[in-house]
Amino acid sequence: DILSRPPPTVEAVTSPLRFDPGAINSIETCRILAETLGPDFRVYEDAEQGPMLERSHANGAHRWSMSDAAAGRLDGAGGVLQKSVVKTKELHGQIVACTKCELRQSCKAPVPFDVGHLNIMLVAEAPGRDEDRSGHPLVGQAGDLLWHALDQMGFKRSDFHVTNVVKCRPPKNAKPTAEQVSVCDWLDKEMRLVRPKLILALGNTALQYFTGLEKGIMAKTGTTEWHPKHRAWISYGMHPASVLWHDSNDKLFGRGLEEFARMVRQFC
Ligand code: URA
Repeated sequence: DILSRPPPTVEAVTSPLRFDPGAINSIETCRILAETLGPDFRVYEDAEQGPMLERSHANGAHRWSMSDAAAGRLDGAGGVLQKSVVKTKELHGQIVACTKCELRQSCKAPVPFDVGHLNIMLVAEAPGRDEDRSGHPLVGQAGDLLWHALDQMGFKRSDFHVTNVVKCRPPKNAKPTAEQVSVCDWLDKEMRLVRPKLILALGNTALQYFTGLEKGIMAKTGTTEWHPKHRAWISYGMHPASVLWHDSNDKLFGRGLEEFARMVRQFC
């Protein structure tokens, strides 16, 4: 029973990169893969080996042959990542088309997740006005505050899978109800697709999603726990919007991110 197993070491849960082998069978899918992975990735045409997947770094580049990519031998670029291009696109499409609850009637459209280079997931609450307009999570004032703080710690937004517990903006940014959270089961599907090794749960709604606790994010912020159910480490942090409401939350918010950054460094 995995629930009774002791927490594995960080090394043990850091598996090599794994892609859907069927997804990388032509230069075209290699291009889609590079595009989906983000601006650091591109297709490199090697005179001898043909098309390769390339990831650029500050100090050079890392390349994988198509056969390595197809076999899932994609480790070595300073991180772990795990996704299937095809399934990711499919899930995006399903989320955007969702009409499962009443929240869909008052928002512009459901806001799906943004993919990142690492299989590390940041989970906030629900889209606000700016996210509803743009179709991307955490792009408003709260997001700016979060990305600025993480940038100072040496991370980029594109490093992480960014998402919310609930995909549609609740009217007046109300906290989503338990019923809305349970109907909006997209995060469960994302978890199965990405299988994150590390999660940053931001705020009480994310805390409740992972632990069942209705509140208590202040006490949990700055801590990390192994969750056997998800086979992931979960770090807890204050929601960045809480700093916008109360400056005094700033220190605790910073403490949560520092702990998260400490964990990320162990994985990369
Ligand atoms: N607040 C959230 O919880 N998520 C967003 O995407 C934006 C604001």
